[in-house]
Amino acid sequence: MLDYINPKLVIERGSLSPGKVTWKSPSNIALVKYWGKHGTQLPQNPSISLTLDQAHTITSIAYEAIVSPKEDISLDFFFDDQPNAVFGEKVKNFFKSLLPIFPFLGQLHLTVHSTNSFPHSAGIASSASSMSAIAMCLCDLENLLFGTLNEKNTLHQKASYIARLGSGSASRSIYPIAGIWGEMADVHQSSDLYAIPAKEMIHQDFHDFHDDILIVSKKEKSVSSRAGHQLMENNMYATTRYLQARQHMQKLLAAMQSGDLETFGKITEKEALTLHALMMASSPPFILMEPNTIEIIHRIRDWRNRTKNPLYFTLDAGPNVHLLYPKKIFADVQSFIQDALLPFCENGHVIRDQVGPGPTQL
Ligand code: PMV
Repeated sequence: MLDYINPKLVIERGSLSPGKVTWKSPSNIALVKYWGKHGTQLPQNPSISLTLDQAHTITSIAYEAIVSPKEDISLDFFFDDQPNAVFGEKVKNFFKSLLPIFPFLGQLHLTVHSTNSFPHSAGIASSASSMSAIAMCLCDLENLLFGTLNEKNTLHQKASYIARLGSGSASRSIYPIAGIWGEMADVHQSSDLYAIPAKEMIHQDFHDFHDDILIVSKKEKSVSSRAGHQLMENNMYATTRYLQARQHMQKLLAAMQSGDLETFGKITEKEALTLHALMMASSPPFILMEPNTIEIIHRIRDWRNRTKNPLYFTLDAGPNVHLLYPKKIFADVQSFIQDALLPFCENGHVIRDQVGPGPTQL
């Protein structure tokens, strides 16, 4: 099995000048959800997501050689330019776990700066953008030091693999427009170890798709996604769910290939509600939706029935509602949000986003 362990990636003594790598990387929104894992961050079912644009993390890693390297990581972490010990410890532990893949990390002192485009407390999953930004920085750094990842595809595959180890969903943020993570018999090169690009598999209508995120609550989640994944292990619906997700992947991909928005919407909404149904059927059960989440969902369905506009919703592991729709109905959707949905958002907060080009080097 591919594991990227490489003891050769060691810097020769006295050969390194200090430097810095910086990447901006987006969040993504899953259409078919990854919920349940096994082994080392391996998914129980394949998933597909749209890569976002405005919701992103910018991470820089400055490096310099340390005189006497130890079996540890030497790292200072700053979030929004402030030292952050909690995040710093997490990143340090993550880098430590990556030492067999990137042994040179033990030879460097690293200063990591990270900032999100969206407020940290907006209730938006930041792990996909932050872990993919870190993964791009590390692979870029490997390439700078050793010239081993000059091929774009090779760089992306390894970055997706590394991002996955940090947060499963982050593996999909590496690619423009859309990404697929998880092995599927009929999708060439799909893998549980890393995500693959999906832009070329889907209809042009999805290449400028919109996702407006209605912030229903900015509160921290009562159950983390790590705990949620774990609860799937004893969920009595798990086996059926993983089967359903595979079927949804096939149907959704076919619909996205042909540009069949109606089927796209049906499956996407069912996935969102299934994700939350699984939470409510866990032991112990938990609820991440809020009354306003349900209110917004009813209003979307009602508006769609009345206007015949192809506006659909999805949910992440939280109460906020993602509005998914093609660019051509942008103006109509903005009026609908303004007139009917804003009262259900915390302080009228909406993040207007759309699919984007994936990570960019700064
Ligand atoms: O990447 P994680 O471990 O935070 O899990 C993400 C789970 C969902 O966001 C709910 C679904 C998904 O596929 O992104």
